[in-house]
Amino acid sequence: MIATRTRLDRFISRETGINRRDVRAMLAQGRIVVDGEVAHDIQQIIHQFSRVSVDGEILQDNQPCYIMLNKPAGVVSATKDKQHKTVIDLIGSTNGVDRDSLHIAGRLDFNSTGLLLLTNDGRWSRNLSLPENNVTKSYRVELEEPVTEKYIEAFAQGFYFEYEDITTQPAELRIVSERVAEVDITDGRYHQIKRMFGRFQNKVLVLHRYAVGTLQLDPALEPGEYRELSSNEMTTISETISINTT
Ligand code: URA
Repeated sequence: MIATRTRLDRFISRETGINRRDVRAMLAQGRIVVDGEVAHDIQQIIHQFSRVSVDGEILQDNQPCYIMLNKPAGVVSATKDKQHKTVIDLIGSTNGVDRDSLHIAGRLDFNSTGLLLLTNDGRWSRNLSLPENNVTKSYRVELEEPVTEKYIEAFAQGFYFEYEDITTQPAELRIVSERVAEVDITDGRYHQIKRMFGRFQNKVLVLHRYAVGTLQLDPALEPGEYRELSSNEMTTISETISINTT
């Protein structure tokens, strides 16, 4: 599978070992088909989900796959781990897509729960995490100490993180009850929510992500369960992330 975009002649040459001059001749003879159309332009750009065949033989036919998983606590947001179960271990069959081709779009800590997105589409996950796309991640947080009104202003102002030398984007905090809050952030720094509450010496006891942009965790999914995103969900989330084509 190609991770990035490449020119058609380069792609065919790399996949078949045929030199690029001969590939051009094959193109002129109408022997190369891309996404159901006979290809004519060597400069045509091929991406990881272009269906490409030569003389009727398929060189590439990858299906994009977009999954929402309800991550349970005690599972690592990684594709491999020697010690613990990973989120990939929770994925069984995915409509013919190889689960080892999946990667995580926005990690959750080992004990955090909730909405985790998995995909084999690197462009989509990159766009989801681009700061300029301002995708909101929404969390429900249970705390050791009471949460007070002063948190609201501090979260909205942002916190300076010395290690990264950045100030976090304005975050919205809503007090739900004495020790429970909801927080929306648009950035996604390491342990960000825990570090933000850490500024008040208030320990996060439970952290649950219930939304990413327009995607809400499906309440029908029990912890550890997953499903593919619907076409409606794909349309609405794709409208909020401008597609960067590089
Ligand atoms: N912030 C955290 O501290 N942990 C998470 O898992 C997600 C956001």
